[in-house]
Amino acid sequence: MAKYIITGGNRLEGSIRVPGAKNSVLPILAAALLTDEQSVIRDCPNLVDIEKAVGILRAVGCKVKIEGGTIIVDPSNITTHIIPDEYVKEIRSSIIFLGAMVARAGKARVTYPGGCEIGQRPINLHLKGLEDLGVNIEESYGYIECKESKLTGADIHLDYPSVGATENIIMAATAAHGYTIIRNAAKEPEITDLQDFINAMGGCVAGAGTSTIMVEGRRPLRGADHTIIPDRIVAGTYLGAAAITGGEIMVENVVFDHVQPIIAKLRETGAVIRASGSAVHIKSKDRPFPVYKTTTLPHPGFPTDMQAPLVSILTVARGTSVVVETIFENRFKHVPELMRMGADIRIDGKTAVIQGVEKLRGAEVLSWDLRGGAALVLAGLRAEGQTVIDDLHHIERGYERLEHSLRSIGAQIDKVED
Ligand code: UD1
Repeated sequence: MAKYIITGGNRLEGSIRVPGAKNSVLPILAAALLTDEQSVIRDCPNLVDIEKAVGILRAVGCKVKIEGGTIIVDPSNITTHIIPDEYVKEIRSSIIFLGAMVARAGKARVTYPGGCEIGQRPINLHLKGLEDLGVNIEESYGYIECKESKLTGADIHLDYPSVGATENIIMAATAAHGYTIIRNAAKEPEITDLQDFINAMGGCVAGAGTSTIMVEGRRPLRGADHTIIPDRIVAGTYLGAAAITGGEIMVENVVFDHVQPIIAKLRETGAVIRASGSAVHIKSKDRPFPVYKTTTLPHPGFPTDMQAPLVSILTVARGTSVVVETIFENRFKHVPELMRMGADIRIDGKTAVIQGVEKLRGAEVLSWDLRGGAALVLAGLRAEGQTVIDDLHHIERGYERLEHSLRSIGAQIDKVED
């Protein structure tokens, strides 16, 4: 198993570019199934989760070429409506293929994705939304079977603004007769990216970025050429790396609006942040100020994916901070690892109380999940001495060659294969 070895203490300086957003690429790869023409998707990061999504496309009959960061999907010959189990078990987000496959083939079958490191991850909202569109769903022996059904536009109210459910419903609605309205929809930027891709295909989706989305179904869809939006969480992680090391860096390829909720918090730590075009410059304090209270919320609230990196930054703040995780129930697994490095954190249910310490010490720690792993990297960059982070496969699901990127701005970090 690969590990990172980090020697902390370097102040980060320089500039670094953010790649396209993984969480945008996944639904957009699924949406490529909505037509039988070829689509070109640009600025895709090279990540295991994206390889697996490409694996799903190939398994259902698509021809897929990967040229650098460009993925070219030819979905003209779909040979099956069954999403293979092996992929669903490996990437939970493959549930996103359900809505697209129902739209394309009129039916779909997928194994139940189940929970993961950060929580139970139910899919009731995905299934209810599809049923509202007229999809006849049978659940048996761990499978979800969407039977041949006549899709009809519907007025759908989501109990919670789930990102994946919103995406699945939008995709299925493109094939429904008439109009669909999704109320209390997720407002994340990745939804807007999906809308832009579908509209470039000739579809008619409106309202993404607000809580009401409208889809006109059964428009003829063609292939599209689309560039993925920058990854706001990778951008936030780089900004966080500067914030925890007292660094000063320029992060390029950022949509300022998308990272605004993260920047607001980093400013509370004392960092001075300026945007200029698509670049964001951060100059941070030697030691961050504490942040009175941060609550993770659906966009445009503070993103749950940045909770763990923020907790790391606050471990060395000049006082006490409180962070409340409201989205996923099991997302504090980085905390015991940070405590091994000398952090002073108490967890009570959804709340972490972080008493800032002057110094973290390098230690051998384990990355339990993707963003928790990134949080440990940030802590390692600040800690005295050497930090060894075991089990990089989670981190590598969301960050392309993180060690190279961080080395380019002055970090001492190496990847070592066991
Ligand atoms: C997406 C992102 C993930 C991010 C999350 C929240 C991808 C691949 N992943 O995940 O990185 O952390 O948004 O911004 O895009 N819920 C239900 N029933 C459902 C669906 C969700 O109760 O049918 C609950 C979940 O348990 C969770 C909350 O809704 O508590 C948010 O989940 P959701 O927005 O669906 O997250 P994902 O789309 O899985």
